[in-house]
Amino acid sequence: MKKRTLMTGIAIAMTAASMTAQPKLTADNIDEIVKAMTLEEKAQLLVGGGNDGFVGSGAMLGHQKKFVPGAAGYTVAIPRLGIPSTVQCDGPAGVHIDAHREGDSKNYFATGFPIGTCLASTWNTDLVEQVGQAIGNETREYGCDVILGPGLNLHRNPLCGRNFEYYSEDPIVTGLIGTAFVKGVQSQGVGVSAKHYVANSQETDRTRVDERVSPRALRELYLKGFEMVVRRSNPWTIMSAYNKVNGHYAQGSKDLLTKVLREDWGYKGIVETDWIGKRKDLPVETEVAAGNDLMMPGFPAQVEDIVAAVKAGRLNVTDVDRNVRRMLEYIVKTPRFKGYKFSSEPDLKAHAAITRQSSTEGMVLLKNDNTLPIRSLKTVALFGVSSYNFMSGGLGSGCVNVGYSVDMVTGLKNIGVNTTPQLTEIYQSYVKYAKAKLEADKNPMMWFLNQGQPKYDEIEITERCVAHEEPLADAAIITIGRQAGEGMDRNINGEFNLTKDEQDMIFRVSDAFHAKNKKVIVIINSGSVMETASWRDRVDAILVAWQPGIEGGNSVADILTGKVNPSGRLTMTWPIAATDHPSTANFPQDYDMYTYKNMEGSGHVKNVDYTNHEEDIYVGYRYFDTFNKRVAYPFGFGLSYTTFELTKPVVKLNGNTINVSINVKNTGDVAGKQVAQVYVKAPKGNYEKPTRELKAFGKTKELKPGESQTLTMQIDKRDLASYDEAGCQWKVDAGVYTFQIGTDVETIKASATLKLTEYTEKTTDALPLQQPMNLLKQQ
Ligand code: BGC
Repeated sequence: MKKRTLMTGIAIAMTAASMTAQPKLTADNIDEIVKAMTLEEKAQLLVGGGNDGFVGSGAMLGHQKKFVPGAAGYTVAIPRLGIPSTVQCDGPAGVHIDAHREGDSKNYFATGFPIGTCLASTWNTDLVEQVGQAIGNETREYGCDVILGPGLNLHRNPLCGRNFEYYSEDPIVTGLIGTAFVKGVQSQGVGVSAKHYVANSQETDRTRVDERVSPRALRELYLKGFEMVVRRSNPWTIMSAYNKVNGHYAQGSKDLLTKVLREDWGYKGIVETDWIGKRKDLPVETEVAAGNDLMMPGFPAQVEDIVAAVKAGRLNVTDVDRNVRRMLEYIVKTPRFKGYKFSSEPDLKAHAAITRQSSTEGMVLLKNDNTLPIRSLKTVALFGVSSYNFMSGGLGSGCVNVGYSVDMVTGLKNIGVNTTPQLTEIYQSYVKYAKAKLEADKNPMMWFLNQGQPKYDEIEITERCVAHEEPLADAAIITIGRQAGEGMDRNINGEFNLTKDEQDMIFRVSDAFHAKNKKVIVIINSGSVMETASWRDRVDAILVAWQPGIEGGNSVADILTGKVNPSGRLTMTWPIAATDHPSTANFPQDYDMYTYKNMEGSGHVKNVDYTNHEEDIYVGYRYFDTFNKRVAYPFGFGLSYTTFELTKPVVKLNGNTINVSINVKNTGDVAGKQVAQVYVKAPKGNYEKPTRELKAFGKTKELKPGESQTLTMQIDKRDLASYDEAGCQWKVDAGVYTFQIGTDVETIKASATLKLTEYTEKTTDALPLQQPMNLLKQQ
């Protein structure tokens, strides 16, 4: 149908409708409203942005201007039926909106909270819930109804450009941290969009790549975190991923959006697409029928397509009605529907305190040779451009427009530690210059990368420079920074590995400072994993600060000086080499989606058009631990300034819940928190299994020296199951299970056993592989 004809159709329908009494939407009359809607209005409600919004105003990727400038998009209002628009903003490290508005002198800065990996590394679900509450509060007070997060994709490979937004290589960490985040946000009367459903494990060609994954790996790993979040916290919305999964676009896959999500898990909210317009090779009716309720940000033509598809009999109107009903159920929950008067003035001061606590608790101490804490630190020589351009978050939609960000110089100054003046001056001038240069050279093609705080190239640190600085300082701190973001994966050289300048800097500084018995501490300011094995022996301490949000410099200072005892633990393996991950063989390298470098020949390019998950269930530690491959730092690892004793666990079955209790005692000299990780070793049964898998974890409160605490952790029996593809079922083999308490996956402190009977749970038959794959197996 031509646009003019459609508009006339809508006008006639609306005039006819307005002649009869108009019901207005309430939480109790959804059926009546659906009945009162014209087909055009129904189609309109399923397509975000709308005729007035998307085209022209660019209602995507932070460019929406109509309601809250800088929000990602909105849903369309139908005023005659009392249906308001609702507004959605990014996510997930805080509210992503414009900080400045035309003709308005007020600032609209939001709090930049720690990125996903840092939050998860706290292993503290209560703290993550508090962060969620603060983010939910800012979402609501800035006039938004939904925040587009959390990111629940797994770290399949350390090179994925968006790992910083995701929590872990492990689905249980993802599920439990994700649940806490969603509960926190939604407690504020706004919703989340858990994303990107599912297997958005790479950025290269992300809008088309076919992620080929066995149903078992999908169910046990990639879907599992989403499943836990859906079952435990009922997210208002789920964002379907851009990519395909086993041959079908996620946003058009009935298997994913209806069979798994709704029939198997009982999901009640809405599904919306990731931000894409009309696709050439995916009719909108396929998306509607599959159970994708909202096209975001949507294209006007999609409204016409839905109407035409129903009229032509290609789309059943009952599918449209079902999605419309779900949309209305979503809308009646929103602050906009409830007429909430937002303030645009959240309590940023209170939120700064929450972000500081969570970033400090998420930082992971990797190495400490009798170095930290340094309580008597007076002056440090601070090396590395990232010390002065300390990156609070990543790039792309996940960045936050923040009012300030505490760098290392300021963080140290705040606790009375000075930095050597000449070096500080050199770096600060360079950062100023690099910022201005980048602004001048801005490449419009790199639009994602222009959102957020970029990383600047390292400057060469000569031996002369180090020789000048050493006598002036008590110790050296070197910050190694890595930036990453939406739309691009990372390279091994220069991103996973150190650059030549960085390596020279570490070696030169260490040689000079060690010659005078002074310590060298490295801070890693990166959202994801990097290489450490080749240089870690040269330095005395390494702290992973991640991208810790706006209070980062203060958090680092708290840890260095012992004000806070580090209690973060890795939620992913730090391998010796990036190629040690079996998935690296099937991961894109050296492609560039902006210049299309190495991406020609579309259709059959391995790791671009399709990616085979040949490592299957052996993702992260499941591979390294099972195949006895050495790592730099294992999953779960992190040092403390104190020591702990963990007792033998008591494991009891109560119905279908397994309770694991242990006692943790602080046996050292300073207060601290400990994480107890419960790994389960399954008996030999019908299914090949990794050596052990994390099934639960708990974190103590701050224990004083000599103090103990009993932690009780719960495991659903069904979470021990293997996914049996042939039978389309979850299956727990009968037998004796060993529950191991570890402080990381390689360090098991105590264990106990429990005999379990068989458990079976049928599922739908979904997501079959479309072609045979050579899956990794134990011999
Ligand atoms: C990203 C999403 C984001 C959306 C809206 C997409 O490009 O993949 O994570 O929420 O844009 O900005």
